[in-house]
Amino acid sequence: MSAPKDQPTDARSRLRSHFEGADPSTHGSKWDDLWKEGWLPWDRGTPNPALVDLLAERQDLFPAKQGRRKALVPGCGKGYDVLLLSSWGYDAYGLEVSKNALEVAKQNQKEVDGKGVYETKEGVQKGKVTWLSGDFFTDEFLKDVEGEPTFDLIYDYTVRFPLQYIYGF
Ligand SMILES: C[S@@+](CC[C@H](N)C(=O)[O-])C[C@H]1O[C@@H](n2cnc3c(N)ncnc32)[C@H](O)[C@@H]1O
Repeated sequence: MSAPKDQPTDARSRLRSHFEGADPSTHGSKWDDLWKEGWLPWDRGTPNPALVDLLAERQDLFPAKQGRRKALVPGCGKGYDVLLLSSWGYDAYGLEVSKNALEVAKQNQKEVDGKGVYETKEGVQKGKVTWLSGDFFTDEFLKDVEGEPTFDLIYDYTVRFPLQYIYGF
């Protein structure tokens, strides 16, 4: 994976050295350290434009008016994509390994309420938003999912960041 265009090289180096040599079992707390510090070079402040376009343009793939549907956003960060999916009628789950990230996501949810991009889409009933604390690479978090622990859609933007971006695969 190549670096996003707006990702400064120094941020990339800093991220690499932050995780370099760390035992994978400590990656969760390493992420949490970044959230505590508030150093979030990946944060765009908006939902991922590719997801915005996909949901709006490909209703054949994601029929918003077809009953209750569940979506998972692993490594949801501030939760922009979770809130967007909710506006399209999904019962949307934001999963984070960092407890501090979840606090920021909840705060963000309060702040963006009523802002255009997250307004419920026409003819769609807003989905429920649930914030989950846990590691995507274990099944632990599934116990907190309502009903069957399955999803109609899983959307991930850079949760595999440490592997792809730092180690280059
Ligand atoms: C590069 S950030 C991207 C955040 C968000 N997807 C966005 O686009 O703004 C990666 C996020 O994934 C979280 N994360 C990393 N590994 C995770 C894991 N195994 N399970 C859950 N969350 C994880 C980190 O805490 C961090 O907030």
